[in-house]
Amino acid sequence: MLYLGIDSGTQSTKAIVLDLATGKIVAHASQAYDLISGLPAGHLEQHPEDWFAATKATVANSLDQLGDRRKEVRGVGVSGQQHGLVVLDENDAVIRPAKLWCDTSTIDQCAQFEAAFGGTAGLIAKTGNAMLPGYTIPKLLWLKQNEPDHFRRVRTILLPHDYLNFRLTGVKRMEYGDASGTGLLNIRTREWDRDLTAFVDPAVDAMLPELGSSNAVHGTLLPELAKEWGLSGEVIVSAGGGDNMMGAIGTGNLGGGVVTASFGTSGTLYACSETPLIDPQGEVAAFCDSTDRWLPLVCTMNVTVVTEQVRSWFGWDLAELERQVASVPAGASGVSFLPYLNGERTPNLPQGTGVLHGLGSGSATPAHLARAAMEGATLGLGYGLRRFAELGLSPSEIRLTGGGSKSAVWRQMSADVFGVPVVALATAEGAGLGGAIQAAFADGQGSYEALSAKLVALDESTRCSPAPDRVELYREKLDRQIELTLLLREKGWL
Ligand code: XUL
Repeated sequence: MLYLGIDSGTQSTKAIVLDLATGKIVAHASQAYDLISGLPAGHLEQHPEDWFAATKATVANSLDQLGDRRKEVRGVGVSGQQHGLVVLDENDAVIRPAKLWCDTSTIDQCAQFEAAFGGTAGLIAKTGNAMLPGYTIPKLLWLKQNEPDHFRRVRTILLPHDYLNFRLTGVKRMEYGDASGTGLLNIRTREWDRDLTAFVDPAVDAMLPELGSSNAVHGTLLPELAKEWGLSGEVIVSAGGGDNMMGAIGTGNLGGGVVTASFGTSGTLYACSETPLIDPQGEVAAFCDSTDRWLPLVCTMNVTVVTEQVRSWFGWDLAELERQVASVPAGASGVSFLPYLNGERTPNLPQGTGVLHGLGSGSATPAHLARAAMEGATLGLGYGLRRFAELGLSPSEIRLTGGGSKSAVWRQMSADVFGVPVVALATAEGAGLGGAIQAAFADGQGSYEALSAKLVALDESTRCSPAPDRVELYREKLDRQIELTLLLREKGWL
């Protein structure tokens, strides 16, 4: 039995095929794409049609690698970037490109929600979450206020993975995990907050599709796609979820003190919880997961984006970046790189920018910049881990996933910054694997615990323990990063 996992991300779509009997990934393919260029600062958009085209291309490519075995495919699970707003008209055509999780053009709309509902505390009392520019519902209010002609045509709103599920099955539906990132879901009751929908517009209630359990089957693959891909029998599509929710499944993060850290363009730290975990300050997002539990999560907007920036300044390949970072001692001789190139969510600095501090005559080198960049991005997540600890969540191990987890120097740095042992997964594609595992679960192939024990492998050769002297050094460096950030924010310079 084979299961397809699709990970539709901001930079690329990746497809994998999981062989349930052996636990091996027997085929994989990826296709990259860009953001729409030429938009004003803070506007980050992609066309949902491009996601579907990349999904079709990567699935076809993976299935070609399988040859005749393609007939063994029984299910598909889709992971998507969280929070993006897909708007469909009465013919289910996409009205305009999707504003993405990293779009920060909705600062004003978030302020309007805050003013109407008693600030952050009032919003947290309603939904469990603050209202942040990345979330979905401020994007809909933005549409109403900036593109009223488009807003009038909206009949359905979907999240990125819901849209792909819709194109695969013809069914419009949302599951709890991704829905919790809209900013509209009361995560305690898993119901929409009708005051918030009414605040945007009385028409919004009717735009929301059916909402339900992440453990349910979303639908079956449309016959025309099954035919095009040469699949036979009924192929189910599971509920899918946001990339962090699916990453939790694919990294075996099912509770018991495990925390996953994802080092992608953005960074996330998350833990599966049996009960809602709500941060009164709203810095830890109180999301639902995609197994009908909860997923407290910290998101920073700047992880590989910072190291990629340094790479492009100096024209290095990944191996050269690794060498340069390793050539400088921990602490980067006091150089701090506040990593807010894309603005920031935690701490909430939607208009934040990057800052270099502490350059001296001996430390103004490309290698120091590179180390400071990697440290700054990792310390950003370290800030989130401190907040987790304040809420009583202290992991005994952190599982690393995403592109950055492939770097040995970055793994050791994370153990030292987090002060906790870290280990990478056998595959860096946690979200795609999560999709395939969820499809197997929805197809009745066992509990998540059993599937995870069989299918999620750690790569023990990557395990790193924190070194006490470096833990102390990074604790102080994080204090400095936070202080510098607060001072600059107070002045209005971030
Ligand atoms: C999490 C978040 C990002 C995106 C990336 O809240 O916004 O991690 O899911 O695709």
